[in-house]
Amino acid sequence: MCGIFGCILREGSAVKQITEGLKRLEYRGYDSVGVATIDHGELEIRKDAGKIEDVVARHRILDMKGSIGIGHTRWATHGAPTMVNAHPHADGSRSIALIHNGVIENYMELKEELLEKGHEFKSRTDTEVMPHLIEEELKTGVSLQGAFLRALRRVRGSYAFVVLSTVEPDKIYCARNESPLVIGVSENGVYCASDVPALLPYTNKVNYLRNGEMAVLTLNGYQIIKISDGSTVERGLTDITWSPESAEKLGYTHYMLKEIHEQPSSLRDALRLQERYLNLLTTFLDRGKEVFLLAAGTSYHSCIAGSYLFSRLARLTTVPIISSEFIERYGSSVGIDSIVLAVSQSGETYDTLKAVDYARMRASTVLGITNTVGSTLTRVSRAYLIQQSGPEIGVAATKTFTSQVLVLAQMALKLAKLRGKLSQDELDEFQEKLLRVPEWVEETINKQEERVKELAKTHMDDRFFVFLGRGISSATALEGRLKLMEITYVPSLAYPAGESKHGPISVVEDGVSCIFVCPQGDSHSHILGSIMEMKARGAKIISICEEGDEQVKKLSDEVVEMPREIPEELSPIVYVVPLQLLAYHMAVLKGLDPDKPRNLAKSVTVP
Ligand code: F6R
Repeated sequence: MCGIFGCILREGSAVKQITEGLKRLEYRGYDSVGVATIDHGELEIRKDAGKIEDVVARHRILDMKGSIGIGHTRWATHGAPTMVNAHPHADGSRSIALIHNGVIENYMELKEELLEKGHEFKSRTDTEVMPHLIEEELKTGVSLQGAFLRALRRVRGSYAFVVLSTVEPDKIYCARNESPLVIGVSENGVYCASDVPALLPYTNKVNYLRNGEMAVLTLNGYQIIKISDGSTVERGLTDITWSPESAEKLGYTHYMLKEIHEQPSSLRDALRLQERYLNLLTTFLDRGKEVFLLAAGTSYHSCIAGSYLFSRLARLTTVPIISSEFIERYGSSVGIDSIVLAVSQSGETYDTLKAVDYARMRASTVLGITNTVGSTLTRVSRAYLIQQSGPEIGVAATKTFTSQVLVLAQMALKLAKLRGKLSQDELDEFQEKLLRVPEWVEETINKQEERVKELAKTHMDDRFFVFLGRGISSATALEGRLKLMEITYVPSLAYPAGESKHGPISVVEDGVSCIFVCPQGDSHSHILGSIMEMKARGAKIISICEEGDEQVKKLSDEVVEMPREIPEELSPIVYVVPLQLLAYHMAVLKGLDPDKPRNLAKSVTVP
């Protein structure tokens, strides 16, 4: 998500290296920039929304003095990309500057507590609670390290924090939980950064901070400390052998692969939704006479999955609709009682925004789910949720699909509770399963990627594929097919399996590869019949099924086995992963660039 760079130098200006470091993190995407330095005991912060060169020029950042400093490029998750929301954030006494990458789950309760104690906040970010929390702890007389540790023990969520303070002007404190942070050491100084590429011009000797660790950096080196008990951690430096280019992708060959592998972590962030906005959106949904789920491409597939979730959990009928079709199909009938929930990773897709404008003109209530704070969709929605997947650079959507479905699942669960549609036991059980989704995705990637690579090799010359799933798995099948088609250019079909006999089955003949999505659940017995129908016509059957599903295994030529106990409602988030990997590995085997498929753009902002 955000880019972080900090340094303490023996010689030279900190801001020069900070701005260079931030530029090397540009590929992570950002909307605002900020730097803090200390010179002769004085803390100075300069920051603004905009591109690095523009902010650096506008605020004459290169004139900032000092050999110690921290810098940040922000990808907004809470609060629009504006100057006040840019990092670093300061405490009330302006003796602490802090930057952050991640999401603080409990910031509302911490903020309320701090407000009661008289703290004043300038921004709408979750981050700003942290310098105030440290300031509050310092008042008890503890050291800066003690105050930082105590504050860290109070925050829940993901973070890489970096702190600069006039209390100890020759040190940088940093800490990590789930968001990456790397320490680097060179002859001329000590560094920290969110990613290795920022450090490579200065050093290839690094120490990756682990979850639950903090570190104190000084010119003499660094000390790592466990946040939970304050004990010291001994761990030496590692030599990095990556080229700067592969380092940007953390050693992955393509952004798409990196983003597929990021899903356990992006899904954990998608579970950290802001409760009050989740409540607000579900209240609107509950009041609508009719609810449309509006989106294009992959986001539309998320909406199809969402419609099953809303129906099965909250007993709410919703209508998924492709953005470019909305006006013609429902334009004359939508009105003041209609709710339009628009789902868009970029928040800038032309067709989606055009449909949203139309719905607003007809006095409908527009709600949004997007990955981009400050996007047009956030500005035109009555209320919105940020899916918190971080920037997605590969053109093909991967981690943003799984996060969108997880957000929709949380909305459906919240709505089920509000409407009294599930018992307490059912609510608790589903909530417990929701929390396990990142771990299931992790297990799938770890255990099945090699298997999927073999499949890609076996089938790389197939000329046609059919993807089939029933119920909510029809969304998984559609998304799997879109991935394969857009990056390998191999023609393919995707259908709800039951519908395939009403036409598509005519294209199935000897040797055609049929990919079946077969999680356990209500649709399972029906999918067996569909597999038999295709098998009888000579199709080669590849099934994605639960580990130990002997019925499906017996009928299939090849299977990818998925973790047990995944409820059907959540299966698209996990079962789509082998399909993403299949598309990726097949594209690579064919010598294609999966990050930049022909004719496609990341965000389609034209009619
Ligand atoms: C597919 C893909 C596109 C987008 C579509 C909508 O991999 O990336 O189909 O999903 O252009 O984009 P957003 O979600 O930004 O509205």
